[in-house]
This record gives sequence, structure tokens and C-alpha cells, in this order.
Amino acid sequence: MSKRFTDPGVVALHARNVAFDVSRTPLQWISKDAFASHIINAINFVLPEGERWFCETFNEALPLIQDEELREAVRGFIGQEAMHAQAHDDVLGDLFRAQGIDTAPMVEVAERVFQQILGPRDLPDAAARHRHLVARLALIGGIENITALLGDWILSAPLEEHGADPVVLDLFRWHGAEEVEHRMVAHDVAEYFGVGYGQRVSALAIGYTGFLLLLVRVAHDLVRQDPDMADHSYARIWLELVRGGQRGTVPSIAKVTWSAVIALHPRFTPAWIGNTAQAVAYLAKSPAARAAS
Ligand SMILES: [Fe+2]
Ligand SMILES: [Fe+2]
Repeated sequence: MSKRFTDPGVVALHARNVAFDVSRTPLQWISKDAFASHIINAINFVLPEGERWFCETFNEALPLIQDEELREAVRGFIGQEAMHAQAHDDVLGDLFRAQGIDTAPMVEVAERVFQQILGPRDLPDAAARHRHLVARLALIGGIENITALLGDWILSAPLEEHGADPVVLDLFRWHGAEEVEHRMVAHDVAEYFGVGYGQRVSALAIGYTGFLLLLVRVAHDLVRQDPDMADHSYARIWLELVRGGQRGTVPSIAKVTWSAVIALHPRFTPAWIGNTAQAVAYLAKSPAARAAS
């Protein structure tokens, strides 16, 4: 842990009200890196559907959790994820649709993944339904490893040096800080439901691969619709993902790979990624959280 922050221990999770005015924010909100702008913009499309799916799945699991402390953490997690989804949905309208971007195809891709492929199934017997619930909880644990990594990254990323718009930067830092704050919950829930090492590693592999493919797919659609972007090939987006990592405008391949590698350790805990004190310190000074409170 960084010497600048003192570990506050376990924190009670609660959703914070926020408001973001992106009506004057440009699509390329990192002015010196158009591709990184759209790669991070894609999160606005991918995460809200994912977060609503987290909430539905955790609401399904909640009656089966007897541990009061874990129940409390799950309720806090649901409150925070619901607020994240709402904030990103608002940005879809205020930033993208207001600037002439057709958001429907990107939203439909996310809906297809999280509602049709990963949604609850009408399975014939109770044991199969329970196995399906546990598989979804394991996958949420894997995806929350990525959101913790992204949250940890954006709290320290020097995006101001690359001309980042302060409102969108605050949106992602507020969200990222809460991801770091609640990073233990999905892992603890998966353990509570008996997810073992093999299932956890499979969920990580599926989560990392699926998230990355979905993000690049949506970023491609955004770049294609941006009249200022000449080259909108998939190859260029993958290349800029690597270059952005070197410039510091998106997480580097090394950082993403390392977060997956340490998660393979049998005694891994998400506490190894990110710093709760840093997250809580940001939330105390986030302009949007302060303005709304
Ligand atoms: Fe979130
Ligand atoms: Fe989360």
C-alpha cells in the first residue's frame, strides 16, 4: 500500500448521489488521445447492462445468504451498482445522443450479452437453477476483478496531462473509487456459494476475454460514427489499445495481465488490487459526489 494512504479497514458500503453535466463535453474527451477517449467511452455502453445484471443476480442470491455481514455488503454493492448504471445511462443521452451518435446498436449488443446469454434461465429442476446461479455469481466475481483493476488504474492515471475533460474524468474516478471500495463483495459471495478454484479461474478467463471483446466491439462502433476519425478498422483499435497503455491513457497490457496472473494464486483476494484508503479519499473530494450531497 502507498504510504500516502492509511488503510481505513472494512468500510460500510453505501451508494452516493451524483450528478454530471456533460452537455458541453466533447466526444473525444481526452483531447490528446481520440482512440483512448472512445475505448473508455465504450464503458458507458457495456457497464450499465452488466451492472443491472449484477443487481438482478445478487437480488436472486440475497435470500440464500444467512450471514448478516455479507447480506449488508451485498445490499451496499447493489445500491452502488444501480447508481453506476443510472449515471452511465444519463451520459448516454446527454453526451452521445446529443452529439448525433446512434447509441441503439451498442446498447443492443450489451443487452444481448447480459440479458439473453447471461440472464436467468427457465431450468427444469431446482439443482440446475442453483448451479446456474452459482455460475453467474462466479462470473460476476471475475468481472469485478476487472472493474477493481480499472478503478485502481483511473484513480492514479495522469489523464489531466493528456487533456481529459474534468467532468468525465470525475465520472470514471467516482465509479472507479466505488469499484475499489466494494471489490471484496463479489469474491466473498462466490466463496460463500462454494465457488472453488477451478470455477473461479474459468470465470476469470471468460470475464476478461468477454469484457475486452465487448469493449473493443463497442469502441469500434463509436469510432466508426465519429466524423473526425478516418481509420476505424478493428486492427487500429487493437493497436491503439496497446499504444494507449504505453502512453498511460488506458491500462497497459502488462497491468491487465498482472491483475489476472495474481488472481490465479490459490489464496488470492481482491484486496491485492487497489487501495481502499485512496478510493475513500477520492470519494470525499469527488466534485459530483460533493455537489449532489
Ligand atoms: Fe460499477
Ligand atoms: Fe462493481
